[in-house]
Amino acid sequence: MKTRGEKITMLTAYDATMAALFDRAGMDVLLIGDSLGMTILGHPNTLQVTLEDVIRHTQAVRRGAARALLVADMPFLTYQVSVPEAVRNAGRLLQEGGAAAVKLEGGEPVLDVVERLVSLGIPVMGHLGLLPQSVHQQGGFKRQATTERARKQLLADAAALENAGACAVVLECIPSDLAQETSAALKIPTIGIGSGPHCDGQVLVSYDLLGLTAEAPPFARQYADLGNTILAAVRAYYDDVKQGGFPRDRAANA
Ligand code: KIV
Repeated sequence: MKTRGEKITMLTAYDATMAALFDRAGMDVLLIGDSLGMTILGHPNTLQVTLEDVIRHTQAVRRGAARALLVADMPFLTYQVSVPEAVRNAGRLLQEGGAAAVKLEGGEPVLDVVERLVSLGIPVMGHLGLLPQSVHQQGGFKRQATTERARKQLLADAAALENAGACAVVLECIPSDLAQETSAALKIPTIGIGSGPHCDGQVLVSYDLLGLTAEAPPFARQYADLGNTILAAVRAYYDDVKQGGFPRDRAANA
């Protein structure tokens, strides 16, 4: 798709019902992101997400989606401790979860893991820029690669991920011109989030797009207001039950 100049569409999915809808809408890639820790489990960040959490949600998405490529996030500490542990954990995401690829965060420190996984037939998507699993080190969910040194590091990390065999790389919250430079420098596709229009594809957290998060990041366009739609529907049901409007007595109607 990158070679053809066709943009790649990616969206997070966490359950079978939504995955079926996203799949029918034509999404190219569904990401079972560790953002599920925030959207589904109500944590303040992604650090508490476990491998079991991601396996379970990947299984659900697998049941719902018939066509899209499924990429499962490797949670914090499932690939950083050792290469053999990373192999076993990534393998479980494919074998038990039904993912076709895994995504992991970082550049230079994870290259040995990426190389090993790819050599064993496990496709790996990289993730650079804002790294939610390093939220404490990065000082919050903040724009990254804003200094000349950090820009050079990001370009070097992206090239190193490509050399290690990564099949694509997510660029999160970096300057648009750096995302453009990185996308031009790499043969593999870049998937942007909060990084401007020049990436080879775009990803959003589905709950932000659908209007289900209380505080969506400023770069996330809201395409629907499902939060308020659900609120209105549930309030109407509540009122009906309280006032006897639901259910109707079939015998009385006959
Ligand atoms: O977990 C996630 O949803 C992600 C996206 C923000 C790319 O990693």
